Amino acid sequence: MKKDLIIILDFGSQYSHIIARRIRDLGVYTLLYSYDISIHNILSKKPKGIILSGGPCSVYEKNSPLISKNIFKLHIPILGICYGMQLISFILGGKIEESKYKEYGKVDFTIDKINDLFYKIPKKSIVWMSHFDEIKDLPKELKIIGHTSSCRVAALTHINKNIYAVQFHPEVQHTKFGIFILKNFIFRICKCNSKWKINNFIEKSIDKIKKRVYGKRVILGFSGGVDSFVSAYLIYKAIGNYLNCIFVDTGFLLKKEKEKISLLCKKINLPIKIIDAKNNFLSSLNGISDPEMKRKIIGKEFISIFQKESEKIGNVEFLAQGTIYSDIIESSIFSSNKLSCSIKSHHNVGGLPISMKFKLIEPLKELFKDEVRKIGKKLGLPKEILYRHPFPGPGLSIRIIGKINEKKIIIIKKAENILYEELNNYNIYDTVNQAFIILLPIKSVGVMGDKRTYEYTAVLRVINTEDFMTATFSHLSYDFLEKISSRIINEVEGINRMVYDITSKPPSTIEWE
Ligand code: XMP
Repeated sequence: MKKDLIIILDFGSQYSHIIARRIRDLGVYTLLYSYDISIHNILSKKPKGIILSGGPCSVYEKNSPLISKNIFKLHIPILGICYGMQLISFILGGKIEESKYKEYGKVDFTIDKINDLFYKIPKKSIVWMSHFDEIKDLPKELKIIGHTSSCRVAALTHINKNIYAVQFHPEVQHTKFGIFILKNFIFRICKCNSKWKINNFIEKSIDKIKKRVYGKRVILGFSGGVDSFVSAYLIYKAIGNYLNCIFVDTGFLLKKEKEKISLLCKKINLPIKIIDAKNNFLSSLNGISDPEMKRKIIGKEFISIFQKESEKIGNVEFLAQGTIYSDIIESSIFSSNKLSCSIKSHHNVGGLPISMKFKLIEPLKELFKDEVRKIGKKLGLPKEILYRHPFPGPGLSIRIIGKINEKKIIIIKKAENILYEELNNYNIYDTVNQAFIILLPIKSVGVMGDKRTYEYTAVLRVINTEDFMTATFSHLSYDFLEKISSRIINEVEGINRMVYDITSKPPSTIEWE
């Protein structure tokens, strides 16, 4: 049986991918396309439903992203979310204006009319809003089905077509019944079957890589994280020794990381070559404090190492990387859309120099982190690889805020090492998804052994997340926090103050730079 497809037209929201994520989790195949895909192209994909995403623009602005009215003639169910809702109304002749009351965050929502979208959803519930515009005049073929205290039209439907829309974000976990609303749309309204599984991903990828590479050599920038382990292992299965994994010691690695990586690779029989490039990285980052500059410089260093290595190996045409979907989205090299703004250029995506000669192989680029883990598990990779906390390619260089020097590297390495020891002592490592230290360029006064100190401040950042696109800070015990603070301040010369980062993502990102 053919798998059912839901299409999301992306108007630039940072959450568009989460909609895709949620629906894939419900077992229905979902793809994101840029809002300007042609109607003909949409039809050719035979979707069972279309979702119009949120976005940063206002529909009434000049050059705002719009769609053709013909989309309503396709007889395919449509769900508009946030900007998507205002767009439906605007295209049908409604009036949208900047709202007097901007709604951001959790809001009480009331259902006005029972309908398929809100099947079995309580009349009153909490939803997550993020909007500045509102519908002033509703076209006559649309009717209101839900409101909040400051938003008269918080949900609507078409009087005789399968078109629904909500002002809030059902894809965000803070919307209490969001997943039920998406389920209702997909299964009750679009009548999809839950059939899609990532089962045959491995066979298909291996086959694709074999055909593409065919006798050429591939160099892989191996970082030691789960993404690079899974992609390296997948490619190794496809082409064996035609793959050359290169692990670069940038000098910004955690203590003993090189040794750990070597052991893990031995365990799964994956050959890697380790290159010591500490001095190159440190000298090229000398005096640099801007985070994006750091990433670009690091990307350039990596490529120049890969280029030199490829000349030694010969016949190298491809560079393989463990890029995943969230790297692409957050670096905004997102093929589906030109509207979303770049958050950071993750070094393996946005940090690559334009002049790079290699063709890219990125077998995991459409998967989210937990999907990558599932693939790794199917490949038989051990737990200690699959559940390693992620570590960014630029490493400690983006955890030392501002300018980097050798002294700061020593300080942060010691502090991170203590953190890891205590995460293990307290059995916390597996219950959180990422934990690390950030060294701030701020000094403050302290007192130790009756003497005045004037040293750096360090931040402890520990988060829980499903896919690293959104995250909450971990609710750790005071006992653990106290232990970390006292050990780091007592044992690491150069830090005299510890703070715990209690922000979620959004509004913050996970790393500080
Ligand atoms: P942010 O800070 O963007 O992090 O919320 C999301 C996840 O990505 C990791 N990260 C990076 N990984 N190169 C990488 O390979 C990078 O430049 C980079 N920046 C952030 C971060 O550690 C977190 O897991």
